[in-house]
Amino acid sequence: MAATVVPGTNCLDGQWVGLARKIPTNTQIGLPALFSQCPFSTAKSGGGKVVRMAAVSVEKKKYTTQKSQEIFTAAKELMPGGVNSPVRAFNSVGGQPIVFDSVKGSHAWDVDGNEYIDYVGTWGPAIIGHADDKVNAALIEALKKGTSFGAPCFAENVLAEMVIKAVPSIEMVRFVNSGTEACMGMLRVARAFTCRGKIIKFEGCYHGHADPFLVKAGSGVATLGLPDSPGVPKAATFETLTAPFNDINAVEKLFNENKGEIAAVILEPVVGNSGFISPKKEFLQGLREVTRADGALLVFDEVMTGFRIAYGGAQEYFGITPDLTTLGKIIGGGLPVGAYGGRREIMKMVAPAGPVYQAGTLSGNPLAMTAGICTLQRLQQAGSYEYLDKITGRLVQGLLEVGRNAGHEMCGGHIRGMFGFFFNAGPVYNFADAKKSDTAKFARFHRGMLEQGVYLAPSQFEAGFTSLAHSEQDIDSTIA
Ligand SMILES: Cc1ncc(COP(=O)(O)O)c(C=O)c1O
Repeated sequence: MAATVVPGTNCLDGQWVGLARKIPTNTQIGLPALFSQCPFSTAKSGGGKVVRMAAVSVEKKKYTTQKSQEIFTAAKELMPGGVNSPVRAFNSVGGQPIVFDSVKGSHAWDVDGNEYIDYVGTWGPAIIGHADDKVNAALIEALKKGTSFGAPCFAENVLAEMVIKAVPSIEMVRFVNSGTEACMGMLRVARAFTCRGKIIKFEGCYHGHADPFLVKAGSGVATLGLPDSPGVPKAATFETLTAPFNDINAVEKLFNENKGEIAAVILEPVVGNSGFISPKKEFLQGLREVTRADGALLVFDEVMTGFRIAYGGAQEYFGITPDLTTLGKIIGGGLPVGAYGGRREIMKMVAPAGPVYQAGTLSGNPLAMTAGICTLQRLQQAGSYEYLDKITGRLVQGLLEVGRNAGHEMCGGHIRGMFGFFFNAGPVYNFADAKKSDTAKFARFHRGMLEQGVYLAPSQFEAGFTSLAHSEQDIDSTIA
């Protein structure tokens, strides 16, 4: 049996051997168990390229998740719900979650040795593929100098410059450790700058788990069936106003009822936390106009969309420039990170340049900065976003076609490396539309796809993500 190296691969022989060692061997057929799953199994991606095995006829390995179940059963006694972030627990699709052992390129392996084409990509950061060789090599070098300084480091300047050059609204940036923190910092500075308290957010949009945002907050919360979380005091949310996404009239009404009191309108410019929902162009344009007219700030939460739907984020893609932007996920290349930034006059209010306090022990640490810099460098290569657009379009069109041909009501869409589909005839313009989906059907579909080696987000109300490491072969196998 010959291994075919796809032209252009940068997957080194040594790394290939390294992976093969990790995979349990099926002694009966003398092959790594991984290869017995399908005759043209994709073996391993490295930095966007794939080593593919030639066709062989072997018996399909039975899909078992016994080790995952044992580990997760133990985890439930140790951590609330067995997880450290709720959606991972598979509550909305049922069954037990899969416990991962390793990831590389577009693929993931679980503790039972099952291989998956991964469309979660650690919820967005893995846009150049998991465990990219160049990022790993840079991290190893950075690690030798220490994991955290608690003092300025040069890598902060480098990443800050890259972010400022890329994102139209950002003239100054502050790095933090998560998207949640970024949104908290953004909110404080928006309120300080405008000397106003109220904010408008949209139903089904998620901006991290800080108290003021936990109102109609999308997938994670919707999945638990909690409209608001216990423990969030009324005082924290009474200045949070909500409107349906894509409904400019509802926003104008709120502005009319609260003239001069609204500090900011914050939104996911492309929603990912109610499933994938595109904005109407006139909605974004309308928000820009109404905020400007009232002296409120427009904030794009680009924790998910930043560097994903364009190098300059949704604001570059749609040509609408907000006043403030939050980032996370991709700019940390898989390490914990977040950032908020905007016009210089606003950001100069943040301590110590100004009076708005916000701080962080590990903020700007050299590892996260290094992974972020290398990830953005890879994304700068010509053709990155065209490639994401091509494979993601092929995936979504393919899924819709085979689903509809089999008699299922489905709708969906994508922008570059972000996608989603609903078991719902559509169209879906907001969270209320998304909630008309057949979630029981999605749960069965999700489990079926797992058994076929495809790892989708475990909720109908989450977007999916592709990466530069996803091959056309990955996409076609998924559709098949
Ligand atoms: C749009 C958006 N904002 C904020 C957050 C919170 O980011 P984190 O999970 O890093 O705290 C998320 C997380 O998925 C997000 O999608």
